[in-house]
Amino acid sequence: MDKIEIVRVTPDDIEQLQKIGRQTFSETFCAGNTEENMRKYLDEGFSFEKLTAELSDDNAEFYFATLDKNVIGYLKLNAGQAQTELKDEKALEIERIYVLKEFHGKQVGQLLYEKAIQVAKLHTAEYVWLGVWEENPRAIHFYKKNGFIEFDKHIFKLGEDEQTDIMMKLQLNGE
Ligand SMILES: CC(C)(COP(=O)(O)OP(=O)(O)OC[C@H]1O[C@@H](n2cnc3c(N)ncnc32)[C@H](O)[C@@H]1OP(=O)(O)O)[C@@H](O)C(=O)NCCC(=O)NCCS
Repeated sequence: MDKIEIVRVTPDDIEQLQKIGRQTFSETFCAGNTEENMRKYLDEGFSFEKLTAELSDDNAEFYFATLDKNVIGYLKLNAGQAQTELKDEKALEIERIYVLKEFHGKQVGQLLYEKAIQVAKLHTAEYVWLGVWEENPRAIHFYKKNGFIEFDKHIFKLGEDEQTDIMMKLQLNGE
């Protein structure tokens, strides 16, 4: 495969961010969820208002994975108060790593992940954490092979449906 680049997303990229966000979310979750719940989440979770707020939050960072300038995946990182839970100043949350299905198993997820770890070290975070749907075995395997361990569970609401996320973390101290 040609060179994949990891580039910081700016507010000017909002349309591309909305497109890759909706497409990868649909590909990942439409099989296990009702159409109504998916529609609601896709409308609200990726609205211009929500993305604009996220892009202008100093504690949040988005990155695209691009191939020949086409966006094929993205990453969202949260520090400080932008974290969805814990909100520990010494931590960094990987809120999202999403790669288009046709590029799974091709190192794109790994490159986005490595960017996350690079940013965590720049922030001198002591650990990185994330929540992953318990019915997403591919992602769970991906994080485990990168050294993450489960430390808790929490409830994630998709539309009206309550689902369980496994919380995982990777300690960075001493590296
Ligand atoms: C999560 C994601 C970024 C990982 O990137 P990727 O390129 O698919 O990752 P890899 O192929 O390197 O690793 C996935 C691993 O899971 C394994 N796997 C695949 N399907 C699996 C399954 N059903 N059960 C268990 N393991 C599975 C693969 O064999 C691989 O392990 P290996 O390297 O030991 O063979 C990517 O799959 C993705 O974008 N998924 C959709 C979005 C998503 O779920 N994001 C995470 C939300 S928290």
